[in-house]
Amino acid sequence: MSVQRPRVTVFDTTLRDGEQSPGCSMNQPEKLRLAQQLDRLGVDVIEAGFPIASDGDFESVKAIATVVRRPIIAGLARACEADIRRAWDALKYAARPRIHVFLATSDIHLQYKLRITRDQCVAQAREAIRLAKSLCDDVEFSPEDATRTDPEFLCRVLEAVIEEGATTLNIPDTVGFTVPTEFAELITMIRQRVKGIDNVVISAHCHNDLGMAVANAMAAVGAGARQVECTINGIGERAGNASLEEIVMAMRVRPDRYPYETGVVSEQIYSSSQMLGEITGVPVQPNKAITGRNAFAHEAGIHQDGVLKNPLTYEIMTPQSVGVPDSKLVLGKHSGRHALSIRCEQLGYQFDRRALDDIYRRFVRLADKIKHVEDRHLLELIRDTHKPSGSATPLIEPLASGKPAAVNASEANVAPETETAAPAPSPEPMRPFPASTQTNPFGVPMPAHSDPHHEQTQQEDYLWGV
Ligand code: KIV
Ligand code: ZN
Repeated sequence: MSVQRPRVTVFDTTLRDGEQSPGCSMNQPEKLRLAQQLDRLGVDVIEAGFPIASDGDFESVKAIATVVRRPIIAGLARACEADIRRAWDALKYAARPRIHVFLATSDIHLQYKLRITRDQCVAQAREAIRLAKSLCDDVEFSPEDATRTDPEFLCRVLEAVIEEGATTLNIPDTVGFTVPTEFAELITMIRQRVKGIDNVVISAHCHNDLGMAVANAMAAVGAGARQVECTINGIGERAGNASLEEIVMAMRVRPDRYPYETGVVSEQIYSSSQMLGEITGVPVQPNKAITGRNAFAHEAGIHQDGVLKNPLTYEIMTPQSVGVPDSKLVLGKHSGRHALSIRCEQLGYQFDRRALDDIYRRFVRLADKIKHVEDRHLLELIRDTHKPSGSATPLIEPLASGKPAAVNASEANVAPETETAAPAPSPEPMRPFPASTQTNPFGVPMPAHSDPHHEQTQQEDYLWGV
């Protein structure tokens, strides 16, 4: 009998908290386009903006509320009448509106920012939720800076807003200060101490100032939170928010540790990330988990060889599962012959062992100079290696006859018989791509395996790639 896993609500705040990150502001058509993509991505809640912040934000929230009908559309409001009414004016067009009210609760915010007492804070929170509830059934409350709030006082505020009808209680780690064990304890304490907590949804909203936003959000889910607030590519105030794609894929890749479901269509992750980057002009850091351009790229020869033989060797999820079109084998100085020969085949060339040795040696020299060898370089290299001497300017110096200078550890390991400068055979004529009908699980064409030395070559690739 299969057990139903608990469902975690994915609340996307790319258009609100995400947009607060420097350089990430978006205009109304851009926000609407991204909201439609978030709908395709399958998020449960889209926080479309902060309607009182500007007329542009108001119009964006209104447009999204009008057009995007499946998810809940949320709008942010401070705990005051003008904000709440303005939020509702934009949200009332939504099929499923939510007013999200926030009020700081930590002493440091009460004293220095709001200049109110704790009692005033409770009263203001109550009044705000009462008003929001009179307009909209679905009301979320966030005690800003919750993780630096006195726990007793936090419980008092949470109980008060539940009494006024709040349906989701969001616990923000506003300044990215908490750590996973502590945050889990906080959620557990809230579940044990706050009256009425079983009738509302607990949410986690984590910032990444210590690089722990996703870990904190996951710890909160483990302790009973059933909504996570997050953004595409982890954009957001300062160091950003918890990244949606990391949270979703952590649950998908490690159901043994995170046995929860989300409604996210993971195959839409990559296009959502790309769209956000294209709209904001803010590129994703190359090594960003899941959505960075190197997340599925393998340069080290051992890794390339392993991935080509079986992707499970170095990949814990398939690129396709997050919508990345293909695994990218980056050809650089750490690459092995196996990867080089596959790429040559993809370009329409198949070489015997000796010719491949020759090309490989030249390739390593080139990679030492230009870091990433792209297809055009490789084609030039192939042409260059096999052209009659004295013709067009070579991209790299031709190999000197006799012992070539070792340019890196790979080349220093070349077996003696492959180092002698034998006349290179011509490449086989161009063959239509794909070079073979066999493909690996990523759809990358695999060699035809007609080479009797195949097993030996694979073993050598392992050594060469070091
Ligand atoms: O970080 C924060 O505290 C917020 C609230 C408005 C939820 O973004
Ligand atoms: Zn925030």
